[in-house]
Amino acid sequence: MERLQKVIAQAGITSRRKAEQLITEGKVKVNGSIVTELGTKVDVSQDEVIVNGVPLEKEEPVYFLLYKPTGVISSVKDDKQRKVVTDYIEAEQRIYPIGRLDYDTSGLILLTNDGEFANTLMHPKYNISKTYIAKIEGIPDRQIVRKLERGIMLDDRKTAPAKAKVIKSDRKKGTSIVELTIHEGRNRQVRRMFEAVGHPVIKLKREQYGFLNLQGLNAGEYRELKPHEVKQLRELGK
Ligand code: URA
Repeated sequence: MERLQKVIAQAGITSRRKAEQLITEGKVKVNGSIVTELGTKVDVSQDEVIVNGVPLEKEEPVYFLLYKPTGVISSVKDDKQRKVVTDYIEAEQRIYPIGRLDYDTSGLILLTNDGEFANTLMHPKYNISKTYIAKIEGIPDRQIVRKLERGIMLDDRKTAPAKAKVIKSDRKKGTSIVELTIHEGRNRQVRRMFEAVGHPVIKLKREQYGFLNLQGLNAGEYRELKPHEVKQLRELGK
């Protein structure tokens, strides 16, 4: 979703300032209604914007799956000039990530210009499963694994039931690889869950998002989602 004045300015009709003026003067309609509020957000792939009686062309909705490398921000721009996820994708549309992965987490992230789709997938009721592979310090025992699965108190709220499985442990180095599947998307959730049970994360990768995985992609590579995948994602929350 983007601010209405920005969308109008970027359509090349006029400057940002003039766009603001057109909005406050009541010359802009969104989905049939006059909008005079400057902060109004619109979805460039879904909403019908008409300026002075002339409709702006809607962007074609696009959907991408990126294998985000570590050291990349899940955003469209960064104040400190660090790399952002949209740097990896060649698209004419104004795409943005659906949710986020930490700067130091790699793995699967979706990007789109379809705000309705993005909002739907991020809605808590959707409960899409996300599978992470974590390299952690130490070797967790059965009790720790059960604790992770049953829920951990984070910010006074228990995490929802999860699935955890120790894939392997290196006794010499004192590290383990654990697969953890969660259904929420709280801030730094996986890192905080492991931290809470005394096994800080050394490395983290999101390997799966719902039925989607990283098959065929290397870090930094992406592909478009197939229409049936988009449809299937939309149906997950129904
Ligand atoms: N959990 C985390 O701790 N980090 C992520 O990037 C995603 C989930």
